[in-house]
Amino acid sequence: MQQLFLIGIGTGNPDHVTGEARRVMADADLILIPRKGADKADLADLRRQIVHAVLGPDAPVVEFDLPRRDASGDYLTGVDAWHDAIARAWVDAAGQAQRVALLIWGDPSLYDSSLRIAARLDPAPTIRVVPGITAVQALTAAHAIPVNEIGAPFVVTTGRRLRDEGWPPGVDTAVVMLDGQCSFQSLSEPERYDIWWGAYVGMAEQILDRGPLPEAAARIVATRARARADHGWIMDIYLLRRR
Ligand SMILES: C[S@@+](CC[C@H](N)C(=O)[O-])C[C@H]1O[C@@H](n2cnc3c(N)ncnc32)[C@H](O)[C@@H]1O
Repeated sequence: MQQLFLIGIGTGNPDHVTGEARRVMADADLILIPRKGADKADLADLRRQIVHAVLGPDAPVVEFDLPRRDASGDYLTGVDAWHDAIARAWVDAAGQAQRVALLIWGDPSLYDSSLRIAARLDPAPTIRVVPGITAVQALTAAHAIPVNEIGAPFVVTTGRRLRDEGWPPGVDTAVVMLDGQCSFQSLSEPERYDIWWGAYVGMAEQILDRGPLPEAAARIVATRARARADHGWIMDIYLLRRR
């Protein structure tokens, strides 16, 4: 593999795929699509549809099974071994192809390990990153809100951190991703917050809700559980603003 293209494809709306993403996809000898068994959240179908729409039915695609993370021991050691295994899986799946592409959900720079995994490849290919629309942008666009208040900073964090560490210091706005547990419920003084929530943002299934946290929280928890049961998977994100 001489070149590796990490192509941001946005958050599931085929219209998020930029002109640059289309050109770089067409330039690849091979596009790798990871699969996680029967897990619909691997989004392999959507990646297949995007490749088909951009390059037609004869696109050079290889699918491979994503190695599983060993969750039995220390978290960071498990992630390290897992990233090594994914790097090996990329190399095996790429075979003799020289210009290899991966379609990265959202943007490769945000809560995505592809760049860290790519740094493990030996010999090191040239890396080209194509930026994509992030879930943060898709959320704020869907609600038609700015992410920050005038001249103010904001934090992008995870559900686990919000639960474990509470409200992040020094900001009035936090965007929370990777939250399987509706961690906004753990905030003390919920009456101080407003929430803008979205699931499947940008996709045909998109669901949005917003409001003062004390009144919206229970509604979002119920909607999320129903949507997850209906679709078999869910991806959601929310912005919290402190009054
Ligand atoms: C592993 S991170 C990938 C983020 C991605 N690289 C980006 O730029 O948005 C996955 C998290 O992104 C958020 N996410 C991604 N796509 C989403 C969508 N269509 N709707 C809602 N949240 C989404 C969810 O919080 C999910 O847990």
